[in-house]
Amino acid sequence: MVDRRQHWENVYRNKATDEVSWFQTHAAFSLRLIRDSGTGLDAHIIDVGGGASVLVDNLLDAGYRNLTVLDLSEAALAESRKRLGARAGPVTWLADDITRAVLPAGAYDVWHDRAVFHFLTDPADRARYVEQVLKSVKPGGHVIVAAFGPGGPLQCSGLDVVRYSPDALHAEFGAPFRLLRHETEIHPTPAGKEQEFVYCYCRRL
Ligand SMILES: C[S@@+](CC[C@H](N)C(=O)[O-])C[C@H]1O[C@@H](n2cnc3c(N)ncnc32)[C@H](O)[C@@H]1O
Repeated sequence: MVDRRQHWENVYRNKATDEVSWFQTHAAFSLRLIRDSGTGLDAHIIDVGGGASVLVDNLLDAGYRNLTVLDLSEAALAESRKRLGARAGPVTWLADDITRAVLPAGAYDVWHDRAVFHFLTDPADRARYVEQVLKSVKPGGHVIVAAFGPGGPLQCSGLDVVRYSPDALHAEFGAPFRLLRHETEIHPTPAGKEQEFVYCYCRRL
């Protein structure tokens, strides 16, 4: 069996980044939720499982300057670094598994994840993920997690996913997080299909 790191390396090595189902030309929902959080441009923001997403470009364009992108796939991060050129320099790039990475304690004002948490089908992995958020996000920090909604696909990239209503997604994180807002995005894939995403915006208490 291919381990999950190898799986994602294969995806990014064998497919163009604008062909993958989750591709967006602009990370509109994520950017708007981060902006609406009211956090300053000096906020420390981590995009977990950022892959080759343009969210980092959009955040740099908006003036945010303390950015970290974490992903299992070196190839995905290399793609983003190449796209950004000299602008990639000040960004922190972490090639790691979010369930195992050693993240700095109390470091982040904003935690963002689009389409990563829903791959954690093992409850023990989900518990490790939530521990990471609790450890590395400052009290009062902003947590934005987007997963496939109840009408979303059962699989992505050949892997099973867990689909969530806003309440079910919030329940995974529990009492230390207050759900302040949720939104649904119907994401048009490059292949012309539609995918339902649920975005939850929580404050870490
Ligand atoms: C569906 S893609 C979404 C990428 C990006 N967030 C976006 O919206 O374009 C899922 C990403 O999560 C990464 N990933 C999957 N499992 C991971 C894990 N356990 N730790 C870190 N990254 C992971 C994959 O390499 C991939 O880039």
